[in-house]
Amino acid sequence: MRVLIVGSGGREHALAWKLAGSPMLDQLFCAPGNPGTARVAKNIEVEAEDVKNITNWAIREQIDLVVVGPEIPLALGLADSLRLKGIKVFGPGKDGALLEGSKVWAKRQMKKWGIPTADFAVFDDFDEARHHLSRFYGGPVVIKADGLAAGKGVIVASGPAEAEQALYDILIEKAFGPAGDRVIIEQCLSGEEVSVLALCDGKDLIMLPSAQDHKAIGEKDSGPNTGGMGAYSPSPLYTAELDRKTREEVFLPLLEGFRNEKIDFRGVIYAGLMVSHNQFNVLEFNVRFGDPETQAILPRLKSDLLPLLTAAADGCFGEAKAEWFADPAVCIIMASEGYPGHYEKGFPISGIDQAEVAGDGKVSVFHAGTDLKDGQLVTAGGRVLGVTAWDKDLAGAVKYAYQAVGGIDFKGAYYRRDIAYRAL
Ligand code: AMP
Ligand code: GLY
Repeated sequence: MRVLIVGSGGREHALAWKLAGSPMLDQLFCAPGNPGTARVAKNIEVEAEDVKNITNWAIREQIDLVVVGPEIPLALGLADSLRLKGIKVFGPGKDGALLEGSKVWAKRQMKKWGIPTADFAVFDDFDEARHHLSRFYGGPVVIKADGLAAGKGVIVASGPAEAEQALYDILIEKAFGPAGDRVIIEQCLSGEEVSVLALCDGKDLIMLPSAQDHKAIGEKDSGPNTGGMGAYSPSPLYTAELDRKTREEVFLPLLEGFRNEKIDFRGVIYAGLMVSHNQFNVLEFNVRFGDPETQAILPRLKSDLLPLLTAAADGCFGEAKAEWFADPAVCIIMASEGYPGHYEKGFPISGIDQAEVAGDGKVSVFHAGTDLKDGQLVTAGGRVLGVTAWDKDLAGAVKYAYQAVGGIDFKGAYYRRDIAYRAL
């Protein structure tokens, strides 16, 4: 098969790394990819959000399957555009992508479909929204911009002043542009977060093992949220009972809801759960693989990934099955100093190959924000690398991962030293 992966982050490198080992694969491409994907695929110079040129390129190159990594091309209708031309796609159309692209739509559907989620109200008027804050009696409250905001559209406000500021920034100052034409004011939940992903062929599900993501920049989960500073799989919090409940109370109602709305969802659904004392709520749905969860989940997949994604894209899992290694895996993000705020780019990176060799076959370094400048690997983003390791237990995986991190160097490299601490 000739396969194209769309995207350029750590998630796409992990997908490329796993797909590259498939006996069904003839050639793998990545648009636009990064220097990491270039090790296992041929990068092509088309931006992930350029729907027209990706479609034309895929037709010309007779691509058998397109795997879409990020949410924006999905929200822009890349999957619809490709399907119209008869090209198989792993990733939902615009209709299914609304589940991530509009938080208002997603929350309303969750209520309608009986999926457990925090109470909420929707506003497009600043004064009305501000008045609503009094219902929270000065306590914490969550403000969410409706549309896609590069992971920055959710503000967990500790009290009314911070919440009002967020409402002002979103509704009046248009900090997220039209993505903030509407806001959600939501009850603040406490507990621990678990990410549960399921492949979907439009009718059926294959659930993947759970993962836990560290969103905060600082140790002990302090400071502002990032795209994710590390992840591990499985989550010890995610018991067999919770797995059963997630399937029955989240994914099956979602599938039925899709059926009723005539949404043919062929891709991956990511449910972000908040869990406390065996109670759980859905915080959000994404319509793509999580980043960095994917980097911690895919090394645990014993089966070939390509037939699974192809079957989902075909709309029929049939005999396709996923088998998993019991060994846990962990991914530690090495970021640029200053991230998630302002940071500089262009610093040379060294030590990756040696760190992988020293890792005894238990380490893989996934590129996220890297670039090649005159043959030298340099930093090119906030999250630079996802250093991933696996072992017979989580403590071992964490040890291997930090050993590898210790061998990699670039100016201002920042990483959390406590990834997976809750599970150890
Ligand atoms: P979302 O994009 O909806 O997942 O929100 C991003 C992050 O904000 C989540 O991963 C949580 O850490 C936090 N968050 C979202 N909704 C809530 C909520 N209702 N209560 C507490 N934290 C939340
Ligand atoms: N790691 C969180 C996300 O992918 O949205």
